[in-house]
Amino acid sequence: MLNGKKIVVGVSGGIAAYKACDIVSRLKKLNAEIDVIMTKSATEFVQPQTFQALTQNPVAVEMFESPKYWDIEHISLAQKADILLIAPATANIIGKVANGIADDMLSTTIMASTAKVIFAPAMNTKMYENRIVQENIEKLAALGYYFITPASGRLACGDVGIGKLADVDTIVDFVLDKALPKQDLKGVNLLITAGPTVETIDPVRYITNRSTGKMGYAIAEAAEARGANVTLVSGPTALTAPKGVKLVPTTSAVSMLEAVMDNFEHQDVIIKSAAVADYRPAIAAESKIKKTDGDLQLTLVRNPDILMALGKMKGSRILVGFAAETDNVIEYAKGKISKKQLDFIVANNVKAEGAGFGTDTNIVYIIDNKDNITKVDLSSKLEIAHRILDKVKMELDNKREDKQPPIH
Ligand code: CTP
Repeated sequence: MLNGKKIVVGVSGGIAAYKACDIVSRLKKLNAEIDVIMTKSATEFVQPQTFQALTQNPVAVEMFESPKYWDIEHISLAQKADILLIAPATANIIGKVANGIADDMLSTTIMASTAKVIFAPAMNTKMYENRIVQENIEKLAALGYYFITPASGRLACGDVGIGKLADVDTIVDFVLDKALPKQDLKGVNLLITAGPTVETIDPVRYITNRSTGKMGYAIAEAAEARGANVTLVSGPTALTAPKGVKLVPTTSAVSMLEAVMDNFEHQDVIIKSAAVADYRPAIAAESKIKKTDGDLQLTLVRNPDILMALGKMKGSRILVGFAAETDNVIEYAKGKISKKQLDFIVANNVKAEGAGFGTDTNIVYIIDNKDNITKVDLSSKLEIAHRILDKVKMELDNKREDKQPPIH
């Protein structure tokens, strides 16, 4: 139930606008408090009176119309909302928000709100696939706006393809998920490693990699929000640890191994998203290495494989690895599951647009040790973090069920 949650439903102009009536009615039955804002073109498809009757609230269309029951400021709806759901969302409203345009009641409200904003796009396939629309979606997803991927099928214009408004059930479930953050990991002890490692050459030089730690920090933030006790073992990054998380800073692979082992015993789940260097300089020189006329040879020795070590001692713990690949993503990732005794692996192609190091978004495959593969399309790293934790939760539940004595 959504008792008392304040949801603003934005309806923009498309043939799917009539489906917004069903969405509003379903949310109303869940006891949400709903206000509807329509764009002017949406009123060509559905009468404002319909939404007024469904919500028992006046419907806002024009920005400067005289306020009725709500506060005087046109941003009052933006401030009171817990969730803003834009369904259907046209290319126009997505484009406006992505480019900072606020020229009507709906775009102004979205822009002035700090609430969670969910877009459920619906439009012609070619329009949806247009690079401009996709770039706007990528930009907004990276900023933390949520998108419900449209369904595929026959569209109103006769074309067949992606672009149909997602199912009403899917949209309502998505809103429920965002309005009531689950506490489904309450009491679970979860350790995450994040960021790069730094391997010293001499007091002024080191070897590192392009990891920024964003994915691992997003997992830490999401797990904490879902009630887990989170330990974040992190190589050097520019990020601030999320509130409520125990941060253990590390530098080299060897120091990360030590930190992980020191905090290993009481963990239920270990997620290794850190980009650990496979090699380190054989000698970390105590003094700065001075240049000579000739070339310099640096001998590198193997670092311990932290994940492999954990695989051998994991017991009943859930162990999750990451694979950053540039080719044969699924095949290579599967190899790592068996080699490192993982429950599942999160694999991405670091060369794909919108994925990999430094981006705010990612596209991943979640592959488990029973060969189930789930693709998570381009989403913010926080959204991906939640999908990874959904899988963790599923694995924890499976383990608990396995432990139950048989019922006779
Ligand atoms: N990992 C680790 N310790 C290492 C190397 C990697 O714990 N010394 C972990 C990473 O945190 C990640 C996973 O192992 O979860 C990545 O595994 P792997 O692909 O073996 O690392 P790569 O070095 O990329 O392997 P390869 O060169 O074979 O692709």
